[in-house]
Amino acid sequence: MRILGIETSCDETGIAIYDDEQGIMAHRLYSQIAVHADYGGVVPELASRDHIRKTIPLIKEVLADANLTPQDLDGVAYTAGPGLVGALLVGCSIGRSLAYGWGLPAVPVHHMEGHLLAPMLEDNAPEFPFIALLVSGGHTMLVRVDGIGHYQLLGESVDDAAGEAFDKTAKLLGLDYPGGPALSKMAEGGDPKRFKFPRPMTNKPGLDFSFSGLKTFAANTVRSEADEQGVNSEQTKADIAYAFQDAVIDTLAIKCRRALQQCNLKRLVIAGGVSANTALREKLAEVMNKLGGEVFYPRPEFCTDNGAMIAYAGLQRLKGETHTDLTFKAHPRWPLDSLPAL
Ligand code: KG4
Ligand code: ZN
Repeated sequence: MRILGIETSCDETGIAIYDDEQGIMAHRLYSQIAVHADYGGVVPELASRDHIRKTIPLIKEVLADANLTPQDLDGVAYTAGPGLVGALLVGCSIGRSLAYGWGLPAVPVHHMEGHLLAPMLEDNAPEFPFIALLVSGGHTMLVRVDGIGHYQLLGESVDDAAGEAFDKTAKLLGLDYPGGPALSKMAEGGDPKRFKFPRPMTNKPGLDFSFSGLKTFAANTVRSEADEQGVNSEQTKADIAYAFQDAVIDTLAIKCRRALQQCNLKRLVIAGGVSANTALREKLAEVMNKLGGEVFYPRPEFCTDNGAMIAYAGLQRLKGETHTDLTFKAHPRWPLDSLPAL
């Protein structure tokens, strides 16, 4: 079976074709970063308009790359939520209309299920059950995964998502949106001994996260370390970036270890934009090594938003026959654990 996947939930238009025998046959990504950079964050209306411009041309390119026609497809999957409602509606209406016109089933996909299943696109794919740490710009969640749709939410962020905290702290350090990757680069030059940031909510039992305090801690450090002109040296900024990143990673690692021990599992999956972070990957590899387990993640380009993960998740849902009739709906908020189990 073969499916077209369409991702338009935020600021990336991602299109891919996934075949359950051949794997990813083609995928393309158009990032809107340049459109939003001047505003320091995603402008929803501009995002929707850009998805309208890019989605159909990218679908044509992907079909051409794979040397396929719509008749060679068995379904069309699109991200139906969570995300920005206008951006989602572009993918929903294009995906639904193409499926109708081509006489194919249309499959609404949960964006975070897409992230969660992205490691399945790799040669070294995890087996169920596992613990998934989902860390993106909008979500931070720990989930026990026993199969597709068998999701038990163990913990989540009570305020900012990990990626959001990265982006806000990066902005404080004068870095452009989206600041996560830039902050991580800056941290490479930081002195590990200069600042020590707190590890929020690690002294209490439980698996929830809170990252907004870390951003405030970074803001206070930026202010207290500034010279009379209110300027921080490049070294100070790198030291703050290091301390911030170290605190986020350490906090995530502590909670992952706790979740694995609580569920008596030895497999950990990390996915979502922040899982591209090299220091996080190294830390979790170290944790899993000590626990005698293994960590799985998607290749870096499939950590951030992409069409391949939507095509993959869509194909599983299509096979499980949970696809819908002619109606479509965008779900800006959509709890992951409300999905039907396959
Ligand atoms: O999954 P994603 O592409 O979009 C959402 O669904 O939100 O995640 C984007 C987030 C942004 O906050 C971005 O700064 C962060 O992932 N990110 C990173 C890195 N690469 C992307 N954060 C830290 N280190 C990175 N290397
Ligand atoms: Zn995402």
